[in-house]
Amino acid sequence: MSNYRLDNSYKQASHRLSLLEQQLDPLTQRRIKMLDLSQGSRCLEIGAGNGSMAKWLCKHVGANGSVVATDINTTLLDHIELPNLEVWEHDILKSALPCSSFDFIHARWVLYHLPSNLECVIQRMIDALRPSGILLLEDVDFFPINTSSSAVYREFMTALVNSVATPSGRDGFWMRNLPEIIATTELTQVGGEGEFPVIQGGRAAAKFFELTAEQIREKILTESSLSLDMFEQGLQLLNSPDFWAFGGANIAVWGRKKTNTLHA
Ligand SMILES: C[S@@+](CC[C@H](N)C(=O)[O-])C[C@H]1O[C@@H](n2cnc3c(N)ncnc32)[C@H](O)[C@@H]1O
Repeated sequence: MSNYRLDNSYKQASHRLSLLEQQLDPLTQRRIKMLDLSQGSRCLEIGAGNGSMAKWLCKHVGANGSVVATDINTTLLDHIELPNLEVWEHDILKSALPCSSFDFIHARWVLYHLPSNLECVIQRMIDALRPSGILLLEDVDFFPINTSSSAVYREFMTALVNSVATPSGRDGFWMRNLPEIIATTELTQVGGEGEFPVIQGGRAAAKFFELTAEQIREKILTESSLSLDMFEQGLQLLNSPDFWAFGGANIAVWGRKKTNTLHA
């Protein structure tokens, strides 16, 4: 069962996720075009959050295509009215997906929150792909934060990203293993790439982490060794235009289901 800590019903959730979308959507869209997703495709957006990629996919696949956007909390999706969009309340940890139903499945910054034994979840996604369907997973590993010369930033961000990941049973520093995890599945044509964005205090990426920290302030302060003073100093850095650092590394991995895979 999901113990996701950043509930989409939080008053700032839509704003917070829109800041993430601003940073990540151009990268995701470039990858989807590179993977040659064609018009008329049926797509699944898992953990769709605020819905920007689901909306973009609806346009990209056109009137003959369709998109299913899932989330454990569909509050931010329910108001979207597009003729080729369906919204499903669905927990990828709990329930299977319809078999062999999608040409393209995408999940971004969702695996981070899931328990360490991901095999079942990833197999669920692969089972839901049609033959020659594409899986694109995009997630985050926070190793670049440790390059900062600011101890406050390093300690604040470590406490923050580990607190977000706590229900998964691990920390914010493992997604570097994703390419290898996907390479051991039945998927073919596996590829991947990564990049780490620069954060400037006061801008969208910094604001995203500030809102994340505010949403789980009590958990960070009670579960980590970060003092209230360090917490407040970390927030100040994220608001200072003079502050620059790396954020998390975005890790993208994709693969294609074999054309001849049969289902039981
Ligand atoms: C960090 S947000 C990312 C949202 C969106 N994918 C994006 O990149 O803009 C993570 C999303 O995953 C959803 N989520 C968390 N656990 C989930 C689960 N077990 N099954 C489906 N969705 C889940 C959350 O509700 C949230 O909307």
